[in-house]
Amino acid sequence: MKKIPIIFDCDPGHDDAIALVMALAREDWDIKAITTVGGNNTIKNVTENALRILEVTGRTDIPVASGMEGPFLKELVQTGKFHGKSGMDGHHLPDPVTKAASDDAVGLMAKILEESDEPVTLIITGVFTNVAVLLLAYPHLKSKISKISIMGGSYYRGNWSPIAEFNVWADPEAADVVMRAGIPFDMYGLDVTHQAYLKREEYAELRTYNNPVADFIADLFDFFSKSCIEDRGHPGCLVHDACAVAGLIDPSLFRYIDTHVQMDMDGDITRGGCVVELRPKGWPRDDEVNSKVAVWVDRIGFMKLLLDSCAYFGKKEV
Ligand code: BDR
Ligand code: CA
Repeated sequence: MKKIPIIFDCDPGHDDAIALVMALAREDWDIKAITTVGGNNTIKNVTENALRILEVTGRTDIPVASGMEGPFLKELVQTGKFHGKSGMDGHHLPDPVTKAASDDAVGLMAKILEESDEPVTLIITGVFTNVAVLLLAYPHLKSKISKISIMGGSYYRGNWSPIAEFNVWADPEAADVVMRAGIPFDMYGLDVTHQAYLKREEYAELRTYNNPVADFIADLFDFFSKSCIEDRGHPGCLVHDACAVAGLIDPSLFRYIDTHVQMDMDGDITRGGCVVELRPKGWPRDDEVNSKVAVWVDRIGFMKLLLDSCAYFGKKEV
């Protein structure tokens, strides 16, 4: 079977972990590397979290490389209580025994792209720093990237400021580099990820699968639900990052608009916000379109895909 080559750049993170499990359940994907970036938590913690995820899924054959510790210009601001002290609190997995293959995520991405016979798909579910450095340092490799599927941004509201979503807000200059690179990107911003939630009674099904991956994901849902449902009043637990994977697996689950997206880096109160062209026909011009922006998700279809991905790792009656 011809497999789709993928590089997955992330900062796990509860929803990064769920997104990774969905990706790891794809037999038609060839995940060439998981690269980590300082974002939700320190580079050390998010890298250990990535290693834990590969250990519980039995996929330690995939190399993990840690990357940039923090953004281009400012200090890293972590997400604190939302993902807990470790960046992925709430699970019962032991410390990882495997180690990262390298601390040069950008170098590993470049090597994979150089050596690949066909263009590679990039997934970004963390802060954009690693990918921005890659594009600046190795501009000739842009043609080796078929597209980038990103969780980040929004056009209606923010979560880290009234207007800005965390992944782009944390390093807006890096997000700007990625958005201007001339590589098509699919954007799963808060407008759609706030529709991608599972209610407590829905993700409870994971406990019936009796496999360690599903139990791990259920633990993550239990922890992350607290901030989503109790603190922020969402109807369920949001799974932002999983959208960037679900859309690659089955784009028919989403509705998109082809449009132009850019970052605001200068505004006193709008820095880190995303400006998405929503004016009707005629805007933007064809040559300005740089993104497919997801605007709607079939929530039930998304949930089924997520649950099926966890069931892939085993489902047994006890
Ligand atoms: C994004 O921020 C992080 O906290 C999540 O993992 C997700 O990637 C949502 O704004
Ligand atoms: Ca993330």
